[in-house]
Amino acid sequence: MVEKGVEIAPAEGKLGILLVGLGAVSTTLVAGVEAVKRGISQPVGSLTQMGTIRLGKRTDNRSPLIKDFVPLASLDDIVFGAWDIFTDSAYDAAMNAGVLEKDLLNQLSEPLSSLKPMAAVFEQNYVKRLHGDNVKTGKNKMDLAEQLIADIAQFRSDNNCDRLVMVWAASTEIYIEEGPIHQSLDALEKAMYDNDPLVAPSMIYAYAAMKSGVPFANGAPNLTVDIPALVELSAKTGVAICGKDFKTGQTLMKTILAPGLKSRMIGLEGWYSTNILGNRDGEVLDDPENFKSKEVSKLSVLEHIFQPEVYPDLYGDFSHVVRINYYPPRGDNKEGWDNIDIFGWLGYKMQIKIDFLCRDSILAAPLALDLALFMDLAQRAGMKGIQEWLSFYFKAPQTAPGLYPEHDIFIQLMKLKNTLRHMRGEELITHLGLEYYD
Ligand SMILES: NC(=O)c1ccc[n+]([C@@H]2O[C@H](COP(=O)([O-])OP(=O)(O)OC[C@H]3O[C@@H](n4cnc5c(N)ncnc54)[C@H](O)[C@@H]3O)[C@@H](O)[C@H]2O)c1
Repeated sequence: MVEKGVEIAPAEGKLGILLVGLGAVSTTLVAGVEAVKRGISQPVGSLTQMGTIRLGKRTDNRSPLIKDFVPLASLDDIVFGAWDIFTDSAYDAAMNAGVLEKDLLNQLSEPLSSLKPMAAVFEQNYVKRLHGDNVKTGKNKMDLAEQLIADIAQFRSDNNCDRLVMVWAASTEIYIEEGPIHQSLDALEKAMYDNDPLVAPSMIYAYAAMKSGVPFANGAPNLTVDIPALVELSAKTGVAICGKDFKTGQTLMKTILAPGLKSRMIGLEGWYSTNILGNRDGEVLDDPENFKSKEVSKLSVLEHIFQPEVYPDLYGDFSHVVRINYYPPRGDNKEGWDNIDIFGWLGYKMQIKIDFLCRDSILAAPLALDLALFMDLAQRAGMKGIQEWLSFYFKAPQTAPGLYPEHDIFIQLMKLKNTLRHMRGEELITHLGLEYYD
């Protein structure tokens, strides 16, 4: 049955992408968009820029580019803003991050040098390893939120933006658990006035975004918008939210491979994952309290894909270990090893080894771009609250309360594309295909 589709406001005018954190991921994103705009490079890894979507029957031969199928902001209409605890421009921060070659950065020096970060909302206790002085002060956390709201309004008018989205690409905060102050908007606002230590800086940014009608995506594993209070605010303000933790590197590999093993009913005894990483993210994650946030996010994927409670004989007792070691010589070029102990027919044991020599920010930047563009689309389509259809991009997708997340990347992609078809009133694709044999 063909659906009616959803009314979507056109992507007219400028889209401001507000980046919290102007580090390796953010500068790789900004430089990449500028390089693509100038025809220097291709947006490899970005579904919104390079992906297609099949419509109708396999015999119809209709597979437009996603960006031609749904009204997305054009890269030419994007303008970037950022906050960071360091005053470095995007050019200096990109040079410092060492992800992209100097030659490429020098070709883009004009747009990168002109992107200078606004003063950040930062609390030392949340990221112990970093010390910067481009930081706001205020009488309490509500005051800091109001300063961010003023920054957002100023940025909007200075840059003549029609719409804005905010993406958290700042350092991973320490692990905190949901407590009473996170349960309702009233409780959170009171806690902000009281300077409660459990109101993380990332929550203050998200609060300010939503109060300004700006969608918010969380690229790190911090709790941030994944609390009832901010879900409540998203419903109240009609703003789209999603998170958390960009799915790149090792977890990407896990959610590609694990569904395949499970589909063949191959058993799993254990999955040992370790990484060496030498960038600033690695330095922050070297602190056990910050690593704990990442560990929880990374560990959750296999449990949900393998469903040990449904398949106790195959997956009832597997061991899953994740390590990250800070090793400066590697910079952003992370190396991730996986040792996977599996068993097959009659319980015979086998092993798989993966050695992924990846580049963290090269994998993350296109995800940040897609998230910004899709969140802007969702907002124009009136899709408020948690955007589970964007699970494709996250290690620990945010879902409605009581709903387990889908981690299988193929289910996530199908969900994403079916959401786009639904938005445009196209038939959803179930892959049943009986009609070809009638
Ligand atoms: N690169 C990846 O593959 C990947 C994957 C998943 C998640 N992430 C997460 O994305 C985030 C960014 O990664 P990165 O490699 O760019 O790290 P980075 O250390 O290079 O950049 C983070 C920046 O955030 C700034 N910052 C810290 N706290 C801030 C605050 N409260 N307000 C404003 N700025 C603040 C830091 O000064 C730094 O410049 C990290 O949390 C990382 O864990 C990255």
